[in-house]
Amino acid sequence: MSGKQTPRPRQAYIETFGCQMNERDSEIMGQLLSQADYTITSELHRADVVVVNTCSIRGKAQQKAMSLLGRLKLAKKKRPGLIIAVTGCVAQQEGAAIRERMGHVDLVIGPQNLQRLPELIRQVKSGGPGGVAIEQSNTFNLPAFIPELESSALPHKRFVTIMQGCNNFCTYCVVPYTRGREVSRAPADILAEVRHLVAGGVKEITLLGQNVNSYGMERQERDFPNFPDLLRLVAAEPGIVRLRFTTSNPKDLSPELMRCFAELANLCPHFHLPVQSGSDVVLKRMNRKYSRAEYLEKVAGLRAARPDIAITTDLIVGFPGESEADFEATMALLEEVRYHGAFSFKYSDRPKTVSAGFADKVEESVKAARLNRLQARQQEITMARHQEDIGKVMAVMVEGESRDGDGQWSGRSDTNLVVNFSGVVGTLKPGEMVQVRVEAACQNSLRGTLS
Ligand code: 5AD
Ligand code: SF4
Repeated sequence: MSGKQTPRPRQAYIETFGCQMNERDSEIMGQLLSQADYTITSELHRADVVVVNTCSIRGKAQQKAMSLLGRLKLAKKKRPGLIIAVTGCVAQQEGAAIRERMGHVDLVIGPQNLQRLPELIRQVKSGGPGGVAIEQSNTFNLPAFIPELESSALPHKRFVTIMQGCNNFCTYCVVPYTRGREVSRAPADILAEVRHLVAGGVKEITLLGQNVNSYGMERQERDFPNFPDLLRLVAAEPGIVRLRFTTSNPKDLSPELMRCFAELANLCPHFHLPVQSGSDVVLKRMNRKYSRAEYLEKVAGLRAARPDIAITTDLIVGFPGESEADFEATMALLEEVRYHGAFSFKYSDRPKTVSAGFADKVEESVKAARLNRLQARQQEITMARHQEDIGKVMAVMVEGESRDGDGQWSGRSDTNLVVNFSGVVGTLKPGEMVQVRVEAACQNSLRGTLS
């Protein structure tokens, strides 16, 4: 059936929660829907199909998606033809239970079944009962097609997925349950996508996976590249000005990967290295498979390879059994590493995880107090780090003109910090490189003048 016969183009609305993997998955779904003759709308009330791409990493993330789904019940009452699909990690985790609880949801589709979205929508449109697609697979099964460039708000930088899933089973984490086992994408497919993007004008590529440092390991094939091999292959593509990747588990950060930071000029000096806790007892109970000392050695190794590298992290406070002394060990780690930035969270129980069954849960008020203290101290450290940049001239990749129309422009440093700057005569293109002299530091950005 062709949508061209309908009087008004059919429209789809996609709401995305969670990480960059989910953002990339939403782009893929947008493209699949375009191919099925839908236009993507940013206005929910115009949509014939609503996709809610959910995240379940913490209780709060899941609640946000569930509350949007709750509100959609009314929309469906007003427009019974509206098709509602729940995708992403909550879809995988809850499966059919979502449809049992929410009769207005037509489709539940896990992250490894995205490619079935158009076919399942067609079934509902032709009177089918809706359904649940959460079968897990152990091959890389995202559609191998190529992102549309014009669909992006910032067309000079794009994500490229290099692997799906995670094998680590940290005791607090749902990802191995929602995204399945690690599967690496074939290097030829990755390179084809990268080349297409660069030919279309993309300057910055971020390689994506839950645990990129173990890229290729599950393949156990002699000539399948490991992660440093892949980085070298991608970095050598002409036209890539900046190369980044995320996310990594410190346990798989090898000396070979550290050397890449010394050797590859376009590999950006930024490493997001989630530590989670500074206490060996807690790290063990989290099943992180590294100690505080081993982690610090990796930080030192990275700084030896690339002295200007910015290291950022994720931290969890109030993990079950976390004592005052454990928490103090995390606070002391902040002083020792002096992170450029940190995301920090209160521990929350997640379905199926091992730690959900642990005794000694930390009280909510204690978690909140610890989080406040940690965030306040990290903000000071981040600010001090930013102040160290004052007076430097740095390479900035232009993102665009400030919305205030005050002649200010905005871009990113190689460490991925927002840099606002003035002194532009004429106009600049997104993706262009400029030199900016830093004059002031703010909590989340730097300010300066074109040099
Ligand atoms: N509770 C709190 N924070 C969590 N994270 C992952 N699982 C949980 C949980 N159950 C945090 C970790 C991870 C980041 C993406 O989310 O810090 O690195
Ligand atoms: Fe959220 Fe993790 Fe799923 Fe990403 S992989 S959407 S962070 S639960």
